[in-house]
Amino acid sequence: MNIEMPIHEDHPLPADQDWWRGCVIYQIYPRSFQDSNSDGIGDLAGIINRLPYVASLGVDAIWISPFFTSPMLDFGYDVTNYRDVDPMFGTIGDFDALIQRAHDLKLRVIIDLVLSHTSDTHRWFRESRSSRDNPKANWYVWSDAKPDGSPPNNWLSIFGGPAWEWDGERMQYYLHNFLKEQPDLNFHEPQVQDELLDVARFWLDRGVDGFRFDTINFYFCDTELRDNPSLAPEHRDFSTAPEVNPYNWQDHVYDKSRPEMIGFLQRMRALMNEYPSIAAVGEVGDAQRGMEIMGEYTRGDDRMQMCYAFEFLSAEKPTGERVAKVLGKFARVASDGWACWAFSNHDVERHVTRWGLNDAQARLYLGLLLGLRGSVCLYQGEELGLQEAYVSYEDLQDPYGKRFWPKFRGRDGCRTPMVWITDNLNGGFSDVKPWLPISMDHLGHSVSAQEHDSLSMLSFYRRMIAFRKAHPVLAKGSFRLVTTTPDYLAFIREHEGRAMFCAFNFSETDHTVTLPEGNWHTAPGTSFSGSLSERGAYLPPYQAIFAELETNG
Ligand code: BGC
Repeated sequence: MNIEMPIHEDHPLPADQDWWRGCVIYQIYPRSFQDSNSDGIGDLAGIINRLPYVASLGVDAIWISPFFTSPMLDFGYDVTNYRDVDPMFGTIGDFDALIQRAHDLKLRVIIDLVLSHTSDTHRWFRESRSSRDNPKANWYVWSDAKPDGSPPNNWLSIFGGPAWEWDGERMQYYLHNFLKEQPDLNFHEPQVQDELLDVARFWLDRGVDGFRFDTINFYFCDTELRDNPSLAPEHRDFSTAPEVNPYNWQDHVYDKSRPEMIGFLQRMRALMNEYPSIAAVGEVGDAQRGMEIMGEYTRGDDRMQMCYAFEFLSAEKPTGERVAKVLGKFARVASDGWACWAFSNHDVERHVTRWGLNDAQARLYLGLLLGLRGSVCLYQGEELGLQEAYVSYEDLQDPYGKRFWPKFRGRDGCRTPMVWITDNLNGGFSDVKPWLPISMDHLGHSVSAQEHDSLSMLSFYRRMIAFRKAHPVLAKGSFRLVTTTPDYLAFIREHEGRAMFCAFNFSETDHTVTLPEGNWHTAPGTSFSGSLSERGAYLPPYQAIFAELETNG
């Protein structure tokens, strides 16, 4: 197919190499955002129609989960053609129109490149599996069986079972960190790297502003395919995989997060630098060394700009102490790095349900998220305060959930469609039955129900995002811990002669926090009811305060 390239000379957004630092990104899961062609599945034209809504939130950028050609066994994270749009989502022309519309609305566009693995229906894999000496024979991770016929090592797939699948055509095993239909590409093969860099160039030429690199620390595995050591039960950490998954029983030193990755990051960054104002966020899933890897991947200016953190995606509720611990560790092991924090996404239970938050707590946690040093990623529907939807086994789509049911119910409960209109059975998402059921509990929280209510969660999100934007100290400033207990947290952000004192009360009793010396005054515009007095910052239950100080001039 001959695809014409659009010309993007008049990018309406200012050239700003640093736009990503402290930005707020809104994640769109395209299957579930807006259906425009009545097939029950969201699409790119649907996203275009809803972009004014996204822009009205005040976010800087959107991250769109994969829309490339795919058999959809992992709902787009199994790619058959990196350079085209799946017909289910539209056409490449729709994508060009989406970029144009987003830019007109001053939204930057980040796309989700899934480079670690392809679909097993990708022509590269078909060729690679056809023999041991074809031109792409080395493009995937192949290995002979052990003499007893078992897989070459003990590596496990995140989606359950061994990470190796036997292929009768080649009479060898191939590696898959996720589904067996998602074979891992072999990044040790230079041609694979070249080809994937060219994929990135294809989308840069179409005008994207950046990438989210899926499972970025999985690109390289150990060339000797050594066994992972086991982890003692007390060292297991469930931040990247549910507790029921034995993947957590290994220390993943050999199947991912290998040192060769830095060279590839530098190649990718050099390519991105050929274009103005491009930024990338790499998803780092590593329960043992996540923050250290984030630090390595974002250090200096020749790697990724940001890495996406799992620390606040786990079931463990971020108490004041936990937040301080995470940020303290990040400052220690990744002092020159940059994190992108999120509480919810398309892979985890929605955070208001996961942490059992009431309305006031949900607001407090948003205040916290937008007060953190780092960039922020919000997931569609969290601005409506949506709870995790209940999805019965009969309606379940996610293969991960099917595998570990019922202890782990999978990821469908956070992927049910957006609710735009209350008086509509399908929430205004589609005029036919959607691919996942709409939660009846969600309908009352639709955009139409909240849009004109200044007290709604949606209005609160808009207000808080605007507040962060109005105070660059929150986006770009340094972070200094003032005081913490499980019940409250106070820190100071500082930037270019300005300081912002931020304090959060996570408990149901009042707290007074002493402020450092200086003439602090409450920064207006958050609708939190914390206040200042002679004695310090007074915080009613579940309330926060943001107070400003000019530190010079
Ligand atoms: C994505 C998942 C996906 C997996 C495999 C991730 O971390 O966010 O949705 O299933 O990578 O590509």
